[in-house]
Amino acid sequence: MTAHETALADLDALEAAGLSAFLGAASAPAVEAARIEFLGQKQGRVKAAQERLKALEPAAKRAYGQRFNAVKGALEAACEAAKIRVERPASGPGGLDVTLPGTPRPRLGHRHPLSQTADELLDLFGRFGFAVARGPEVEDALHNFDALNIPLTHPARDPLDNFYLPGGTLLRSQTSTVQVRVMESQPPPVRVVAIGRVYRPDAVDATHSFMFHQVEGLMVDKGVTMADLKTVLRLFAESYLGEEVKIRFRPSFFPFTEPSVEVDMLWHGGDRWVEMGGAGMVDPNVFRAVGYDPEEVTGFAFGLGIERLCMRRHGLDDIRPLYHNDTRFLAQF
Ligand code: FA5
Repeated sequence: MTAHETALADLDALEAAGLSAFLGAASAPAVEAARIEFLGQKQGRVKAAQERLKALEPAAKRAYGQRFNAVKGALEAACEAAKIRVERPASGPGGLDVTLPGTPRPRLGHRHPLSQTADELLDLFGRFGFAVARGPEVEDALHNFDALNIPLTHPARDPLDNFYLPGGTLLRSQTSTVQVRVMESQPPPVRVVAIGRVYRPDAVDATHSFMFHQVEGLMVDKGVTMADLKTVLRLFAESYLGEEVKIRFRPSFFPFTEPSVEVDMLWHGGDRWVEMGGAGMVDPNVFRAVGYDPEEVTGFAFGLGIERLCMRRHGLDDIRPLYHNDTRFLAQF
């Protein structure tokens, strides 16, 4: 072995000895003793290894210098690691530090309360035998007004009450549009519900939003009566809101039903009634517009506000948090 080879082998031995000393040091004084032995400025073994460089042949100096730097770096890192290890509170086997922050458990999201309500309504009406129908949110005047027997001069068509779009279309203002689409596409009997967004430029307050959701129901067959309508809505309210939640029917007017009613629910607190939706017996003019014979069939229809049903079910007094996307609010459902 040349002097150069011996010197390199000594560096390997120095590295092995130093690493094992730092790894084995179990206390702060033991780490300090190892630091002085290996990395001490005056008589440390690393320092001594550095001194050997001077005695080597110029050709061997480069390889020795590189290896020396690597060994010195490795021992300094081992010393730092040992210091950190012995400073930690040894509160468990192997010195596990229970004071360090853990890995956060990922938070699970869930469905929005309005989506949950929509799912529950579809499920409930499904049990009553109603199939699910759908229609577009961008509608034409034919489906939003004409076929629903809403005359050209009716205030429901007012530009101040609708979001009109270019080309004679509008964002639908009610899900009654879907009644028309269903009857156009199939002969009676019909028993469907449709759920979806509707849009109206209403001023926002505790029970109004400019975009909200409705559930529309339509049942057409021979001999359907107002008694069937009231039974279905009462059964629905009992099942969804609870037997203790009173509802009442008030005579009203819609161009597409005759007779028409508005349905109110007794609000939580019991001191006021809040409108839940409109309903009635399908007007013969609507049947004629879709090619049904009003002498042959009768039917009922209803349209209920989903936000208000969700609010009543969960005891909410304000519609607005349903649209604020504050996860502290949403996480409660
Ligand atoms: C209608 O929209 C009729 N299409 C309902 C209907 C269907 C009648 C079938 C007859 C036959 P109305 O405009 O009253 O009716 O709205 C129905 C329900 O939607 C209201 O009772 C209320 O619960 C809800 N609603 C109405 N406007 C808003 C709003 N701005 N924000 C939140 N909910 C609303």
